[in-house]
Amino acid sequence: MCGIVGYIGSQEADDLLLTGLKRLEYRGYDSAGLAIVGEDGLRVEKREGKVDALRHAIDGQTLGGTLGVGHTRWATHGPPSDVNAHPHTSSDGSFALVHNGIIENHNAIKKSLKEKGYTFQSDTDTEVLVHLIEEIRQETELPLEEAVRQALTQVVGTYGIAVVSNTDDDLLIAARKGSPLILGIGDGEYFIGSDAAPLVEHTRQVVYLSDGEIVTVRRSGYEVKTIDNVPLEKEVHELEWSLGEIEKGGYDHFMLKEIMEQPDALEDAMRGRVLPDENDVMLGGLHTVWDQVASADRIIIAACGTSWHSALVGEYLIESFARIPVEVEYASEFRYRDPILKDGDVVLVISQSGETADTLAAVREARSKGVLCLGICNVVGSTIARETDAGVYLHAGPEIGVASTKAFTAQVAVLSQIALKLARGRTLSNAEMASNLQALAEVPDKVREVLQMNDEIREMANVYRYASNFLYLGRGYNFPVALEGALKLKEISYIHAEGYPAAEMKHGPIALIDRFMPVVFIAMKDSTYDKVVSNIEEVVARDGSVIAITDEGNGDLDELCEYVLRIPQTEEFLSPLLTSIPLQLLSYHIAVMRGCHVDQPRNLAKSVTVE
Ligand code: AGP
Repeated sequence: MCGIVGYIGSQEADDLLLTGLKRLEYRGYDSAGLAIVGEDGLRVEKREGKVDALRHAIDGQTLGGTLGVGHTRWATHGPPSDVNAHPHTSSDGSFALVHNGIIENHNAIKKSLKEKGYTFQSDTDTEVLVHLIEEIRQETELPLEEAVRQALTQVVGTYGIAVVSNTDDDLLIAARKGSPLILGIGDGEYFIGSDAAPLVEHTRQVVYLSDGEIVTVRRSGYEVKTIDNVPLEKEVHELEWSLGEIEKGGYDHFMLKEIMEQPDALEDAMRGRVLPDENDVMLGGLHTVWDQVASADRIIIAACGTSWHSALVGEYLIESFARIPVEVEYASEFRYRDPILKDGDVVLVISQSGETADTLAAVREARSKGVLCLGICNVVGSTIARETDAGVYLHAGPEIGVASTKAFTAQVAVLSQIALKLARGRTLSNAEMASNLQALAEVPDKVREVLQMNDEIREMANVYRYASNFLYLGRGYNFPVALEGALKLKEISYIHAEGYPAAEMKHGPIALIDRFMPVVFIAMKDSTYDKVVSNIEEVVARDGSVIAITDEGNGDLDELCEYVLRIPQTEEFLSPLLTSIPLQLLSYHIAVMRGCHVDQPRNLAKSVTVE
């Protein structure tokens, strides 16, 4: 998943684009580049490494020009290198292009172009698109924007592209299919971005491009068409994000900032929705389809990664409260297995970014089968939010750190609200509803209490930073939290970690237990507590090293465990909102102590827009 920025206006483009790339770096960061159109035509600078390496390479120079495009790469075809970095330029140097996505039929096109004498400098699929555009221009002498459009009609796969010409310093072209692109509208200037992060300091007026759309931008205005050349009128939206939200705010890392923001994010996820006075939950985004949701025979939740973990919590919530059967699917598996969907089914997808290709494909699979498809997303105007029939926004604010934290707890909070609303008047008495809503409303303050444990957890992390393997175990609502804790650790510290249902440990993983492998137990005093304590004893009996998360005031485990983290009590169904916090902090501090790049872990990207 790469990051694309573009600018056309009256400001110097180089520094503006470099700053924009920095704000997009969480989308991919193995190489970066710029193409600037100045008085002397096109100037391209690109380097392997992060945006800072590119900035260092052009330090002291002014590339000179008020039009340009930039790119930060997450390699799909060809290793990170200067030559594989974007922008890629045509053989004749007449234009430069940046691309996010995968040209799936690039081999066939490349073969045809080679037969026509084209040579290739890089290993990328993107360069194939460049020479295809070039070939179309050679053959037809069409203007660049028309050659780009025609070339894209021959492409199979996904793209978000931006193109600038060597001979026209008033032309910026952008198009998308499967990879997000936003047009920012300024005063006599325009911006292109893969998401809002590079735009928000310049403008809040945006146009979201949809799949199969191409925009031609000049300083005097812009024109949007379909790839089939049909002009479109696009609605202008107001961005919700603020500049402060996409900066670190004094924290060392975005991840720590976002962990610490969770009380506020949870309050925002409930604001105007949890209504104790009405003893109800109001989910405006589901209002038009609520009867269909409430009468569903089955709810299928599809997601990826951390969002798949919150989906698992959702399964426990909805089945427990509403007694509606729930199935949780990896989105990537759901979309490829020709799922059997019936009239009474409802598909719910969960995606922080709203751009995850596998999850978007699940949406399209569900809709192709005529099933109601809902979305829980964080990014307003994201592709999944726009392609689902209805949905609920998290309102958690931008999540920049690659490791998802506040989005997870906000997703669980939204799922809790959906479950309670489904149960209202059916399986819950008014008194039970009131009590549960009150408990939910109290969670943000309890999260604030857990966050006070940051220093204690940092001290603990120092003990475990050298471990090579971790096991995370939980039961019931906290089984998904065990999975999430393991994912957090492995994706930012590169320590191997596995999450399991605690009981399942006996069926294999117990063979791994030794005193060098920390085992993290979520052992809240709930309906599963006694069984979890038995599992802890089984681990300790094999010389295992146990870290337990349990209720404040509970001293039962002190003799058994090396560390006991005591957190505030809450209703069992709300415990994931609290138990996940220490695991986020533990992973964060271990990763920092191991010198890992917490916000941009190796090989990862924030929004996985390739399949
Ligand atoms: C979680 O920390 C990871 N960054 C990753 O698993 C992520 O949750 C997954 O890629 C899904 O992203 P989404 O919620 O934006 O769809």
